[in-house]
Amino acid sequence: MRYHIIAALLMMALSVALSACNRGETQLPPPEVITSGNAANGEQIFNARCTNCHATTTEMRLGPGMAGLFGPNGPTRPPGVTYGSNLPNGQPINEINVATLIRSGGQWEIAYMPPQSLDDQQLADLIAYLKTLE
Ligand code: HEC
Repeated sequence: MRYHIIAALLMMALSVALSACNRGETQLPPPEVITSGNAANGEQIFNARCTNCHATTTEMRLGPGMAGLFGPNGPTRPPGVTYGSNLPNGQPINEINVATLIRSGGQWEIAYMPPQSLDDQQLADLIAYLKTLE
């Protein structure tokens, strides 16, 4: 009897651990997908999902404008914000890290960005578009 309870508890722990792993994987789109997006589709997704909070210029809305995101200095942020040439979460600015941040959202020095539920192709298209914003 005791062993059944222990076995049941182990199974529960295992399934919790496995679902945590799966969540981790869905946070990271495969690199070959993320670098092969379509910028025209990405522009439509951006206009539908991001423009309330982000301009395509250096203008600040709730979040920073996306111009220059993939440039050497990153996007233009309000004075005093300390991310430098990294993302708010401290990661270097590259396709995978930007895609991961868009999916996860978060709260750093400026304001809260809600997680964005987008599939891998939509994320790739968005990245391709964001790279055109200089
Ligand atoms: C409800 C408002 C909101 C929406 C919608 C939103 N964001 Fe954000 N986003 C923010 C805020 C606020 C920040 C700044 C977070 C911080 O630094 O504290 C941010 C930060 C970012 C950053 C990091 C910028 C930097 O400083 O390096 C990127 C990239 C980004 N958003 C992309 C997107 C994209 C792409 C979309 C659309 C799919 C999107 N966001 C939708 C509010 C939003």
